[in-house]
Amino acid sequence: MSIFVNMNSSEIRQSFLDFFKEREHKIVPSAPTVPFEDPTLLFTNAGMNQFKDVFLGTGTRDYTRAADTQKCIRAGGKHNDLEDVGRDGTHHTFFEMLGNWSFGDYYKKEAITWAWELLTKKWKLDKNRLWVTVYRDDDEAYNLWKTETDIDHSHILRFDEKDNFWEMGETGPCGPCSEIHYDFTEMGCKPEDVNAGIDDVMEIWNLVFIQYNRNEKGELEPLPKKHIDTGMGFERMVRVMQNKKSNYDTDVFEEIIKKICEISGKKHEGENISAINAIADHIRTLVFAISDGAIPSNEGRGYVLRRILRRASRLARKLDLKEPFLYKLIDVVVEKNGKVFPEIVDKKDYVSKIIKAEEESFNVTLDKGIELFNNVYEKIKNNKDKIFPGEDAFKLYDTYGFPLDLTEVIAEEKGFKVDTNIFNSEMENQKERARSARKSELVLAEDGDDSLNELIAGKNIIYNPYDLSPKGIATEILSVKRIPSSDIDLIVLKENPFYSESGGQISDTGKLIFNGSELEVIDSKNKYFIYVKDYDGNRIIDKNPKAIIDLERRLAIQRNHSATHIVHEVLKRVLGSHIKQMGSLVSDEYLRFDFPHFQKVTDDELRRIEDEVNDKIFQNILVNTLVDIPIEEANEIPNVKKFFGEKYGEKVRVVIIDENFSVEFCGGTHVKKTDEIGLFKITKEESISSGVRRIFAATGEGTKKWLNEQNEKVKAIYTAWPEPFKKNIPENLSVDKIADKINKTSYDDGKALKDASKTLDEALEIYNKVNDEYLESKKKEEKENLKKNLSVIFEKIKNEIDSAKSINDVKYLISEEKIYSKDELKEISDFVNSNFKDGVAFMILNQDDKVNLLLYVGDIVSSNHGLNAGKLVGEYAKKFGGGGGGKANVATAGLKDASKVEEVKNGFEEFLKEKLK
Ligand code: SER
Repeated sequence: MSIFVNMNSSEIRQSFLDFFKEREHKIVPSAPTVPFEDPTLLFTNAGMNQFKDVFLGTGTRDYTRAADTQKCIRAGGKHNDLEDVGRDGTHHTFFEMLGNWSFGDYYKKEAITWAWELLTKKWKLDKNRLWVTVYRDDDEAYNLWKTETDIDHSHILRFDEKDNFWEMGETGPCGPCSEIHYDFTEMGCKPEDVNAGIDDVMEIWNLVFIQYNRNEKGELEPLPKKHIDTGMGFERMVRVMQNKKSNYDTDVFEEIIKKICEISGKKHEGENISAINAIADHIRTLVFAISDGAIPSNEGRGYVLRRILRRASRLARKLDLKEPFLYKLIDVVVEKNGKVFPEIVDKKDYVSKIIKAEEESFNVTLDKGIELFNNVYEKIKNNKDKIFPGEDAFKLYDTYGFPLDLTEVIAEEKGFKVDTNIFNSEMENQKERARSARKSELVLAEDGDDSLNELIAGKNIIYNPYDLSPKGIATEILSVKRIPSSDIDLIVLKENPFYSESGGQISDTGKLIFNGSELEVIDSKNKYFIYVKDYDGNRIIDKNPKAIIDLERRLAIQRNHSATHIVHEVLKRVLGSHIKQMGSLVSDEYLRFDFPHFQKVTDDELRRIEDEVNDKIFQNILVNTLVDIPIEEANEIPNVKKFFGEKYGEKVRVVIIDENFSVEFCGGTHVKKTDEIGLFKITKEESISSGVRRIFAATGEGTKKWLNEQNEKVKAIYTAWPEPFKKNIPENLSVDKIADKINKTSYDDGKALKDASKTLDEALEIYNKVNDEYLESKKKEEKENLKKNLSVIFEKIKNEIDSAKSINDVKYLISEEKIYSKDELKEISDFVNSNFKDGVAFMILNQDDKVNLLLYVGDIVSSNHGLNAGKLVGEYAKKFGGGGGGKANVATAGLKDASKVEEVKNGFEEFLKEKLK
């Protein structure tokens, strides 16, 4: 039996760090779980990620030994543990990795000796339960274990690449490794039980001897120096030290599991265990990833999170939980981990809102999806092939938001496999449908069209949209290709000055000017291709045109682009550090910017954002662009903004608007000085999906246009008012005065426009107030008119009743009136009802250009003669192409053709006679 040192999880973590601190390691903080800076990684999957640059020799630190606990997520990519979560007690999507590093400092000997010392001397683990593995031909490590430790030599095993060569991803630093495993079995395990996937024989620590880089071609390149990278599974180590059957039984998970049991009223036992464990795992992943800036969405890491959350929601159904509940677990996660990872404390409310909203939106379809699944399952449950149809899996995905892996899990629980081939082909079909829908809008360059590559192969083409030449540049046409079934030609120029859509900035348009003719350039793509209308490569015209950009348009685009950089930084400052660019569009007319934020941005915040952006613009800052900066150097610039998903080359451009304010990697084009931007105006703020907001804004001419549009709206309100109300508007706030003020200001005089905009705001307030008064008085007037009108009508009907004619003793009247509102119909029928019980009244009630027919049959008449108003009016109206119906007593119908009113009126007497025969 081992002698365990009695420690809780926090003490174990601290004890590890202290051990290495005593050995001159610098204790460093964990990197975020979301590696926004490394496009090769979905999530931080190992402690070494943050040191990748040091291993590759492209970066340095001011220390050569480090230790930490790193937040890791392994749910997608090369290291993916999602499928094992809930099935065993050792895997997690989120876990902490304790690690110690040497950057070209100590190597195998110290790494091995210290690992052994910590485990067996400081933590007093039973040596008989420890096994180690080395890479098959790593004799050095093999011998070090023998000579430097007192491990039982029969416990040193050799394995091949699969187990003992560690790589962080498809590319990146890597090397042979030596793992330490712990044997929980009663009787002691055998060598073949190590690395055999047995829950009770578990890897606890991996010592990696980093010495290669796997390059993009898949080759191993030796690194300039050798390094140590170790990773100890924290939750596993806690399990060992607390001698538990599963990581989930340790104090790391205790409170979360307690809370799940409390909310669901279920016990952590029997078949509940796996659902509860998986939920406990998933909530940690969600809390850490969202706090670090990831957001559930439909692609990339966002989709991984969404899948994890949906799995958890569905597992909750197994615990009979129907309402959103994951968000209720956040507190215990934060409580347990907030001291070590304070970022989750700061972001708690934000994370809670995101998770709750996601749960709510999935809950809407979850039950229906499960029902669909069960219906399908009922039909196929006796099938021998045990295949769940791919079409249904696709329907679950498409209609009910079930990620494929979720359907797979549910199917697997019933012993079924999803037909993923069919699922994938359904998915392809859907994409194809979407593609062709887009194509019909005339897609100009087809991605992956090899014939396009031929057009540029071997040619030395210059792409330079950065030096604006208002008069155009002389260039040469190198290749031409007609876009099939269109009048558009794709042209390759020797020098292309037209900006090609990228990074959200739209393409330039312009002209190619030939000797005596000119052609319109409507687009530019992939840097080398421009599109013109009807050049026709066979026509013999000049091959040396002048290329001129539509300058006005380009300058407007640039204003919006520079404003985008400014607003990005201001949003961060006003709304918080969680703000980042999730999408952006920079056009000549406006800019659009998407960012994660849970609430609506309040009016007050919008005003502050606008003001701060404009203050920055008015400071007239010189926009500084650094070109061809080696990426390693650019990465080191303080506060630099980069975008995940963008592929940056070896050299990048960096756009700086005040080095203490906005510094961004950017290939776009910008103004020279910020006051060219004019006035920045947010024109709209909205939500585009849960937790993601979008703003639209204008600059330059766009702002003027928007101000004018607002003023026009005011004018429309004003025009509708009668004179007395118009008098309430002070002369200096008249729409014409405001229009004047806006129009006589030049778009780049931001301050003057701001003033005009302020006047417009003031005016709006007054106009709205007056308009409310006007609407109020209008309502009152209408009511009075109605009353007056009704009393006139009643008077008239009264006379008509008195002089009513009759057919076979049935009195009747036929009348035509003008009414103003539908409400009068009821009043009129009530009036007739109280005064004409022994008669029939047919009334044509004209309301604007609508004709209402009202038929009233008094009680006495309907009982004596069996007449039914509903039937009669329907039948009568039908003759004239109308329709209607109602009760036996009163009914109405509409007449579509107002020109038939006379006919309708004159024909009724005859119709009634027929009915009374
Ligand atoms: N990079 C290794 C791992 O993740 C050791 O830290 O296992």
